[in-house]
Amino acid sequence: MLKGLLPEQGDVLELASGAGLHINYFAPHFPEIIFHPSDKDVSVFDTIKSKRGAAGNKNVADPVALDLTDSSTWPDAENGLFDAIFVINIFQVAPVSIAEGIAALGAKVLKPNGFVAIYGPFKLNGKYTTQSNADFDGELRAAGVSEWHLKDIADLEKAANKHGLISKTRFDLPANNFILQFVRA
Ligand SMILES: C[S@@+](CC[C@H](N)C(=O)[O-])C[C@H]1O[C@@H](n2cnc3c(N)ncnc32)[C@H](O)[C@@H]1O
Repeated sequence: MLKGLLPEQGDVLELASGAGLHINYFAPHFPEIIFHPSDKDVSVFDTIKSKRGAAGNKNVADPVALDLTDSSTWPDAENGLFDAIFVINIFQVAPVSIAEGIAALGAKVLKPNGFVAIYGPFKLNGKYTTQSNADFDGELRAAGVSEWHLKDIADLEKAANKHGLISKTRFDLPANNFILQFVRA
Protein backbone atom coordinates (compact mmCIF):
# COMPACT_ATOMS: atom_id res chain seq x y z
CA MET A 1 0.00 0.00 0.00
CA LEU A 2 2.68 2.48 1.01
CA LYS A 3 4.69 1.68 -2.13
CA GLY A 4 1.97 3.38 -4.11
CA LEU A 5 1.63 6.26 -1.68
CA LEU A 6 5.05 7.38 -0.45
CA PRO A 7 7.48 9.16 -2.76
CA GLU A 8 10.61 7.28 -3.85
CA GLN A 9 12.80 9.68 -1.94
CA GLY A 10 12.55 12.52 0.55
CA ASP A 11 11.81 13.07 4.21
CA VAL A 12 8.91 11.44 6.00
CA LEU A 13 7.85 12.28 9.55
CA GLU A 14 6.06 9.78 11.76
CA LEU A 15 3.93 11.10 14.63
CA ALA A 16 3.32 9.08 17.79
CA SER A 17 5.86 6.44 16.77
CA GLY A 18 5.56 4.51 20.02
CA ALA A 19 8.06 1.66 20.05
CA GLY A 20 9.05 2.40 16.45
CA LEU A 21 7.76 -0.90 15.17
CA HIS A 22 6.23 0.47 11.98
CA ILE A 23 8.88 2.97 11.00
CA ASN A 24 11.61 0.37 11.38
CA TYR A 25 9.61 -2.11 9.31
CA PHE A 26 8.97 0.41 6.51
CA ALA A 27 12.47 1.89 6.32
CA PRO A 28 14.26 -0.94 4.42
CA HIS A 29 11.54 -0.83 1.76
CA PHE A 30 12.31 2.84 1.00
CA PRO A 31 16.10 3.20 1.08
CA GLU A 32 16.00 6.71 -0.46
CA ILE A 33 13.62 8.08 2.19
CA ILE A 34 14.83 9.44 5.52
CA PHE A 35 12.26 8.47 8.14
CA HIS A 36 11.91 10.73 11.19
CA PRO A 37 10.27 9.10 14.23
CA SER A 38 8.68 11.22 16.96
CA ASP A 39 6.52 10.90 20.05
CA LYS A 40 5.51 13.03 23.02
CA ASP A 41 6.77 10.27 25.31
CA VAL A 42 10.56 10.36 25.23
CA SER A 43 10.78 7.12 27.22
CA VAL A 44 10.06 5.21 23.98
CA PHE A 45 13.13 6.60 22.23
CA ASP A 46 15.58 3.92 23.41
CA THR A 47 13.29 1.23 22.03
CA ILE A 48 12.99 3.01 18.68
CA LYS A 49 16.77 3.27 18.51
CA SER A 50 17.39 -0.33 19.51
CA LYS A 51 14.94 -1.52 16.84
CA ARG A 52 16.75 0.73 14.36
CA GLY A 53 20.07 -0.86 15.35
CA ALA A 54 18.73 -4.40 15.17
CA ALA A 55 17.35 -3.77 11.67
CA GLY A 56 20.45 -1.86 10.54
CA ASN A 57 18.25 1.02 9.38
CA LYS A 58 20.58 3.83 8.39
CA ASN A 59 17.65 5.82 6.98
CA VAL A 60 15.86 6.21 10.33
CA ALA A 61 16.80 9.46 12.06
CA ASP A 62 17.04 9.94 15.81
CA PRO A 63 13.55 10.28 17.33
CA VAL A 64 12.41 13.76 18.33
CA ALA A 65 10.07 14.88 21.13
CA LEU A 66 6.87 16.12 19.48
CA ASP A 67 3.62 16.68 21.35
CA LEU A 68 0.69 17.22 19.02
CA THR A 69 -1.04 19.36 21.62
CA ASP A 70 1.94 21.70 22.05
CA SER A 71 3.02 23.59 18.93
CA SER A 72 6.20 24.79 20.66
CA THR A 73 7.53 21.21 20.28
CA TRP A 74 6.86 21.00 16.53
CA PRO A 75 9.68 21.00 13.95
CA ASP A 76 10.67 24.37 12.57
CA ALA A 77 9.78 24.64 8.86
CA GLU A 78 13.03 26.59 8.36
CA ASN A 79 14.96 23.39 9.11
CA GLY A 80 13.34 21.59 6.18
CA LEU A 81 9.95 20.42 5.03
CA PHE A 82 8.51 16.92 4.82
CA ASP A 83 7.20 15.05 1.80
CA ALA A 84 4.77 13.11 3.95
CA ILE A 85 3.62 12.74 7.54
CA PHE A 86 2.06 9.53 8.80
CA VAL A 87 0.49 8.47 12.05
CA ILE A 88 -0.69 5.01 13.02
CA ASN A 89 -3.19 3.98 15.65
CA ILE A 90 -3.35 7.07 17.82
CA PHE A 91 -7.01 8.03 17.51
CA GLN A 92 -8.37 5.05 19.43
CA VAL A 93 -6.58 6.29 22.54
CA ALA A 94 -6.38 10.06 22.00
CA PRO A 95 -9.01 12.82 21.94
CA VAL A 96 -10.36 13.77 18.53
CA SER A 97 -8.88 17.22 19.17
CA ILE A 98 -5.49 15.67 18.38
CA ALA A 99 -6.59 15.96 14.73
CA GLU A 100 -6.23 19.72 15.09
CA GLY A 101 -2.58 19.26 15.97
CA ILE A 102 -1.95 16.89 13.09
CA ALA A 103 -3.61 19.23 10.59
CA ALA A 104 -1.92 22.38 11.89
CA LEU A 105 1.45 20.65 11.91
CA GLY A 106 0.88 19.38 8.37
CA ALA A 107 0.00 22.86 7.18
CA LYS A 108 3.23 24.12 8.74
CA VAL A 109 5.85 21.57 7.73
CA LEU A 110 4.62 19.77 4.59
CA LYS A 111 6.06 20.51 1.16
CA PRO A 112 3.45 22.01 -1.21
CA ASN A 113 2.64 18.61 -2.72
CA GLY A 114 3.08 16.72 0.55
CA PHE A 115 0.39 14.82 2.41
CA VAL A 116 -0.71 13.50 5.78
CA ALA A 117 -1.65 9.80 6.03
CA ILE A 118 -3.63 8.65 9.07
CA TYR A 119 -4.02 4.91 9.63
CA GLY A 120 -6.50 3.25 11.93
CA PRO A 121 -10.08 2.08 12.45
CA PHE A 122 -12.74 4.82 12.22
CA LYS A 123 -16.47 5.36 12.10
CA LEU A 124 -17.89 6.63 8.82
CA ASN A 125 -20.78 9.12 8.92
CA GLY A 126 -21.43 8.23 12.55
CA LYS A 127 -21.70 4.50 11.84
CA TYR A 128 -19.45 1.49 12.30
CA THR A 129 -18.27 0.07 9.00
CA THR A 130 -18.13 -3.48 10.42
CA GLN A 131 -19.27 -5.45 13.44
CA SER A 132 -15.63 -6.03 14.41
CA ASN A 133 -15.07 -2.26 14.68
CA ALA A 134 -18.24 -1.96 16.79
CA ASP A 135 -16.87 -4.72 19.05
CA PHE A 136 -13.49 -3.01 19.22
CA ASP A 137 -15.15 0.28 20.19
CA GLY A 138 -17.01 -1.58 22.94
CA GLU A 139 -13.72 -2.92 24.29
CA LEU A 140 -12.16 0.55 24.24
CA ARG A 141 -15.12 2.14 26.00
CA ALA A 142 -15.11 -0.61 28.63
CA ALA A 143 -11.74 0.74 29.81
CA GLY A 144 -13.62 3.77 31.16
CA VAL A 145 -11.18 6.35 29.76
CA SER A 146 -13.26 9.14 28.21
CA GLU A 147 -11.05 9.62 25.15
CA TRP A 148 -10.75 5.89 24.32
CA HIS A 149 -13.21 5.14 21.53
CA LEU A 150 -13.40 5.08 17.74
CA LYS A 151 -13.50 8.52 16.14
CA ASP A 152 -15.50 9.60 13.09
CA ILE A 153 -13.76 10.37 9.82
CA ALA A 154 -15.95 13.48 9.44
CA ASP A 155 -14.39 15.01 12.57
CA LEU A 156 -10.89 14.48 11.20
CA GLU A 157 -11.93 16.09 7.93
CA LYS A 158 -13.33 19.11 9.78
CA ALA A 159 -10.04 19.59 11.62
CA ALA A 160 -8.07 19.23 8.38
CA ASN A 161 -10.26 21.75 6.55
CA LYS A 162 -9.77 24.26 9.34
CA HIS A 163 -6.05 24.26 8.61
CA GLY A 164 -6.23 24.26 4.81
CA LEU A 165 -5.94 20.52 4.25
CA ILE A 166 -8.57 18.48 2.44
CA SER A 167 -9.33 14.80 2.24
CA LYS A 168 -7.89 13.34 -0.97
CA THR A 169 -8.34 9.59 -0.75
CA ARG A 170 -9.70 7.05 1.68
CA PHE A 171 -8.04 3.67 1.29
CA ASP A 172 -9.88 0.67 2.72
CA LEU A 173 -7.37 -1.69 4.26
CA PRO A 174 -7.55 -5.22 5.66
CA ALA A 175 -8.89 -5.81 9.16
CA ASN A 176 -11.36 -2.92 8.77
CA ASN A 177 -8.77 -0.17 8.97
CA PHE A 178 -8.35 2.87 6.74
CA ILE A 179 -5.63 5.14 5.48
CA LEU A 180 -6.98 8.69 5.27
CA GLN A 181 -4.89 10.90 3.00
CA PHE A 182 -5.04 14.69 3.38
CA VAL A 183 -3.41 17.22 1.05
CA ARG A 184 -3.31 20.98 0.78
CA ALA A 185 -6.53 22.51 -0.50
C1 LIG B 1 -1.39 3.29 20.78
S1 LIG B 1 0.22 4.01 20.74
C2 LIG B 1 0.61 3.82 19.01
C3 LIG B 1 2.08 3.78 18.74
C4 LIG B 1 2.48 3.44 17.30
N1 LIG B 1 2.04 4.43 16.37
C5 LIG B 1 1.94 2.07 16.94
O1 LIG B 1 1.01 2.00 16.14
O2 LIG B 1 2.48 1.08 17.43
C6 LIG B 1 -0.12 5.74 20.88
C7 LIG B 1 1.14 6.61 20.90
O3 LIG B 1 0.68 7.95 20.81
C8 LIG B 1 1.55 8.75 21.57
N2 LIG B 1 0.85 10.01 21.86
C9 LIG B 1 -0.24 10.16 22.64
N3 LIG B 1 -0.58 11.47 22.71
C10 LIG B 1 0.32 12.14 21.93
C11 LIG B 1 0.50 13.51 21.60
N4 LIG B 1 -0.29 14.44 22.11
N5 LIG B 1 1.52 13.85 20.78
C12 LIG B 1 2.33 12.89 20.26
N6 LIG B 1 2.23 11.59 20.56
C13 LIG B 1 1.23 11.21 21.38
C14 LIG B 1 1.81 7.91 22.81
O4 LIG B 1 2.96 8.34 23.52
C15 LIG B 1 1.96 6.52 22.17
O5 LIG B 1 3.32 6.26 21.84
